[in-house]
Amino acid sequence: MACAIIAAAGSGERLGARVFKLDYEILGEPLVIHALRPFESCSLIDKILIVVPPSRLSFWTIDKLKSFGIGKEIMVVAGGRTRQDSVRLALEHVEGDGVVIIHDGARPCVTVELIERVIDIPEGTSGVVLGIPPVDTIKEVRTGRVVRTIDRDALIQVQTPQAFPASVLKKAHMLAKEHEFEATDDAALIERMGGLVVVREGSRENIKVTYWQDAQLAESILKGRKT
Ligand code: CTP
Ligand code: MG
Repeated sequence: MACAIIAAAGSGERLGARVFKLDYEILGEPLVIHALRPFESCSLIDKILIVVPPSRLSFWTIDKLKSFGIGKEIMVVAGGRTRQDSVRLALEHVEGDGVVIIHDGARPCVTVELIERVIDIPEGTSGVVLGIPPVDTIKEVRTGRVVRTIDRDALIQVQTPQAFPASVLKKAHMLAKEHEFEATDDAALIERMGGLVVVREGSRENIKVTYWQDAQLAESILKGRKT
C-alpha cells in the first residue's frame, strides 16, 4: 500500500487567476479535486495528504473534501514557501516505510493507470518518475545568445506522479534542506544523493496547468473523457 502527497500549495502566479490555483475551476470543480480523484479511485493508495496554501486551510476541511466524494483517509497540511518546503512539511506526517507517491495538484488529467505505472519501484533503485520526449528543440542561451543546442534524444520532460520509498525521500529532503539545495521535483533530491531513479512513459495528456492556455487544454482533455 502507498501514501500519496498532493502538492497544491502554490499560488498560481503564472495562471493569473483571481483565486489560488488549486481553487481554479475546470468543468465546475476545483483543479485540485480533478487531481485528487484518481488517487481516491486507485485501490493501491490507502492514505492521501494534501498540501494547501496556509490561508486555504480553513476552506479545505475534511468535510469539504468529503462533499466532493473523497472518502479515503485524508489529511490537509499547510504548505511552505516553495514546492520543496510543501512536500517536506507533508512528509513529516508520513509514518512507516511504504511507498510515497508525490503528485502536483496542478496536474488535473492524471489517471489511475499513470499512478499504477509508477507505484512499483524496481529492486535496487530509489524511485520512479514519468517522462515524455520533448518536441521542441532546446538550446542553452545566455543574455539572448545561443551557447549550444542540446541533443534532444537524451532529454525527457518529467511529470508527476513520482514514487519513492518513504525513508529514502525523507532522507533526501533532510539533506537538501541541510545543504540548501532547491529543485523543482523530488527525484532531483534523490539523484543528488546518488540514488538511481527510473523513468517510465508519461502521458501527453498529463499536463501541468501553469498558464491559462494549459487550463483550457486541461478542460478539453477532461471534457473528452466524460463523453
Ligand atoms: N507548490 C506547492 N507549494 C509551493 C509552491 C508550489 O505545493 N510553495 C505546488 C503547486 O501547487 C503545484 C506544483 O507545486 O501543484 C508545481 O508548481 P507550479 O506549477 O509552479 O505552481 P505554482 O507555484 O502554484 O504556480 P506559479 O509558479 O505560477 O506561482
Ligand atoms: Mg511555482
